[in-house]
Amino acid sequence: MYLTRHPDPVPRSAARRILTRWMAGLIAMAATAAWCPASAQAPILIQFSHVVTPDTAKGKAAQRFKELAEARTGGKVRVEIYPNSQLYKDREELDALRQGAVQMIAPSLSKLASVSGGDFEVFDLPFLFKDRAAFRAAVDGPVGAALMKKFEPYGLKGLAFWDNGFKVFSANRPLQSAADFKTLKIRVQASRVLVTQMKAVGAHASVGPLASVYEALRSGQLDGQENTPTNIVTQRLHEVQSHLTVSNHGYLAYAVIVNAIFWDKLPSPIRTTLEGAMRDATAYENSIAEAENNKALATIKASGRLTVHTATPYELEQWRAALTPVYKDAQGWISAETLTALNAMNGPPT
Ligand code: LMR
Repeated sequence: MYLTRHPDPVPRSAARRILTRWMAGLIAMAATAAWCPASAQAPILIQFSHVVTPDTAKGKAAQRFKELAEARTGGKVRVEIYPNSQLYKDREELDALRQGAVQMIAPSLSKLASVSGGDFEVFDLPFLFKDRAAFRAAVDGPVGAALMKKFEPYGLKGLAFWDNGFKVFSANRPLQSAADFKTLKIRVQASRVLVTQMKAVGAHASVGPLASVYEALRSGQLDGQENTPTNIVTQRLHEVQSHLTVSNHGYLAYAVIVNAIFWDKLPSPIRTTLEGAMRDATAYENSIAEAENNKALATIKASGRLTVHTATPYELEQWRAALTPVYKDAQGWISAETLTALNAMNGPPT
């Protein structure tokens, strides 16, 4: 069932999976705590859960991290990747990580409010970044460093920011002006900024996990959605929509996070090696994300399944004006410190 304005709860089957994984996690932690030459045969297990397919930039970088981590530790670490919501869906994976059922996840910044306070939602503000470089400057500088600290009280640790790219809108009707969104049911991720964004143009925001979007669009439970071209193609969303507008109205990116108890208990040489593997996997991810999205957009256009429109400068100006109130509303839950720091870097919309 697709929910309106409410993040996905943890269903019973997922709770059972969390419990099972949690026990596996405990065993992995115990192996870590007892790290010594005598127990060297038992590799440290890192279960890495994510919700997109292996052929996205995130999926490929998870695989790169696995290869680097396993090779550089000489097999002392084993990384198991669970892609495409195979193990946990959006909200579930955050709970699973906190409970130690998995050790590593890479959720989008939009989904992090429940494990960091509201500040990560700043990245959802419409038209905040003029280009990819502006996003990278924010996360690679003091703003990113300050945000990563917000995980600490929740027992988590942020290791890296991974890119995806700019989002586009799709629906079963043309989307060229703000008025075109009126009364449409649009799927957004679990972020108050994204819910507010859709309300600002008269749409109904529907919050639910990525894994359910295809079926909800196909069955008419949802009218439209926003995402990056790679997520649209790899989830086959373009097959169940008639129109797509290249709006580049918001940015989708990720934080790679780990369970802090697990991470802090790692033997220091192992942790240092894993940090190096993560640095290299991050550089790889960020170097391919843009090209992956360009390729996916070309695939969407070539599919001939839907009409693709690129928003004109005039249309974008109209959208900006309609969405400006979202900045004011967001002051209700995003700290003034974070808003000021990002606005100073990018300038609020005019
Ligand atoms: C979404 O839920 O649409 C995205 O956050 C999925 C992802 O991880 O890219």
